[in-house]
Amino acid sequence: MARPLVCVSDYAEEARRLLPLSVLTYYQSGALDEVTLKENKEAMNRWYIRPRLLRDLSQRSTSTTILGHTVSAPIGVAPTAMQRMASTDGECANARATERFGTVFTMSSLSTSSIEEVAQHAPSSLRFFQVRIYKDREVTAKQVRRAEAAGFSAVVLTVDAPIAGIRRENKRTKFTLPSHLKTANFVTNNDMSSRMNTSAGGFDVYEYMNSLFDPTINWGDVAWLKRLTKLPIVLKGILTAEDALLGLEAGAAAIWVSNHGARQVDGVPPTIEALPEIVKAVDGRCEVYVDGGFSSGTHIFKALALGAQMVFLGRPLLWGLTCEGEEGAYNILNILQQELDSTMALSGCATVKDITRDMVLRKEYYSRL
Ligand SMILES: Cc1cc2nc3c(=O)[nH]c(=O)nc-3n(C[C@H](O)[C@H](O)[C@H](O)COP(=O)(O)O)c2cc1C
Repeated sequence: MARPLVCVSDYAEEARRLLPLSVLTYYQSGALDEVTLKENKEAMNRWYIRPRLLRDLSQRSTSTTILGHTVSAPIGVAPTAMQRMASTDGECANARATERFGTVFTMSSLSTSSIEEVAQHAPSSLRFFQVRIYKDREVTAKQVRRAEAAGFSAVVLTVDAPIAGIRRENKRTKFTLPSHLKTANFVTNNDMSSRMNTSAGGFDVYEYMNSLFDPTINWGDVAWLKRLTKLPIVLKGILTAEDALLGLEAGAAAIWVSNHGARQVDGVPPTIEALPEIVKAVDGRCEVYVDGGFSSGTHIFKALALGAQMVFLGRPLLWGLTCEGEEGAYNILNILQQELDSTMALSGCATVKDITRDMVLRKEYYSRL
């Protein structure tokens, strides 16, 4: 009998068994020596929880809000490209799972399902659309307009990818998008430039990405995007207080602390370590989210204690989709919520608001005592 999958690492292990090597390495790789990839996970254990006891915890809730929308837990789905390599319905299945669970689905613009397909499959889901600044600004503009028309609630601008990072494993396996799949947001429109029409499968994804992304991307583009849409703008990929403050000045509704799952610059800090500096700089003036290496309810609890409003997950949902499609993605969210609820109950927190900064301390504090 197959071993039951009861936590994120069970799903990860099973997905590693199921996925073709080139897809697996595309999903799991980090940049260069993968130092930050390892650190994203290890840093979680450098923070210890200080539980408070003997509080009435009979009535508990993990519910919270993000940009004014109520969600069932401070756990959201990060944008990851090309999800149909994990399961047949890819992004549509992930969005449906997210809708059932009651949280936010962030859709990658490099998706294998179109903006409209996702909206159709999960009509009542809370959806954010992740955009990039393309050399042809009109491509970005059209995607934003389509997302608005399809009922998306925010635009997430990825600011840490002026070019694609180098992931050595993908070079070794010569990763390409399987030829039966397409980057769906570029081929469903009849008005795409000829460059976009190269997006049929079987091509080198990195060459493709670097040919489209505009390395001139700068703060002026954030202002341009703000003029383009009335939707709130979230800046994803911020790792310093300086950039968080510039983001605030540029009118961001939220700062998303991320190192892109350690796929861009190797050697940057793990996100749980970068988070406190940004929370301090922002000082409550906009929402702060975080992602990178989160795989258990205790990790999520620690990030909330450090001041994040929402914790996003990328790879865990890909593992869920690979193992069990929509059900697997749903199970991942559910498992994390149960683990968060348990950690909250055992640490004296009946609500997300009860998780306060004094409830986590770095490991060194204890060795100094
Ligand atoms: C396979 C894969 C594809 C990704 N694609 C995108 C993308 O298209 N846009 C984007 O902003 N971030 C992308 N990311 C980064 C994620 O949004 C997120 O920052 C990261 O996965 C979080 O780390 P975790 O996977 O450890 O949870 C991708 C990450 C992975 C693993």
